[in-house]
Amino acid sequence: MESVVVWYLRMSLIYFVAGAAVGVGMILWPGESGYFVTVHAHLNLLGFMSMMIYGVGYHILPKFSGRHIYSPGIMKVQFWLANAGLIGMAVSWPFTIGEASPFEYLLMLSAFMTLISVVLFSINILKTVKSV
Ligand code: HEM
Ligand code: HEM
Repeated sequence: MESVVVWYLRMSLIYFVAGAAVGVGMILWPGESGYFVTVHAHLNLLGFMSMMIYGVGYHILPKFSGRHIYSPGIMKVQFWLANAGLIGMAVSWPFTIGEASPFEYLLMLSAFMTLISVVLFSINILKTVKSV
């Protein structure tokens, strides 16, 4: 398995543990949970679920189509954008709840990085798969 694919899977599982830990934290400290629901939801859905789909998708979908991945370069760039974007969103989100804060800029930047990573994944897979 290609090393970047293994890293997608590793990061997915790290986000799974982090997302579940934040979930347990929200149960233990319900008074603070409002700051963390969005972090929890995205660590699990963008981190665990999406990152797992990126890794498994990049490994399996080219094989299903009998082709090589369209762009190994995009696969690597997307890895960094997806991780930097998600970590930036997860770190900044709790500080942006309620009042205006400089963390909003980090949140916006991170959200755009995440969006670009989603677009890159979609292009890379669409250019890879073909019907028979
Ligand atoms: C140890 C495991 C988990 C615990 C203890 C946990 C706990 C929680 C808690 C306490 C909330 C807030 C509920 C509320 O006050 O509205 C929540 C929300 C949420 N959780 Fe989890 N969770 C866990 C795993 C997961 C996983 C694996 C996923 C997705 C793959 C997930 C997705 C969500 C989502 C999307 C919300 C937000 C729902 C909404 O918008 O109301 N959680 N979770
Ligand atoms: C560029 C990527 C994304 C951005 C910038 C983003 C942003 C947001 C924002 C601003 C909210 C509202 C939070 C609030 O109530 O204050 C939200 C909620 C939510 N998003 Fe996302 N999202 C992204 C991707 C995704 C993806 C890929 C999924 C699922 C696979 C997802 C699932 C959810 C869910 C379940 C909620 C409701 C839970 C909550 O209240 O936090 N999001 N998202």
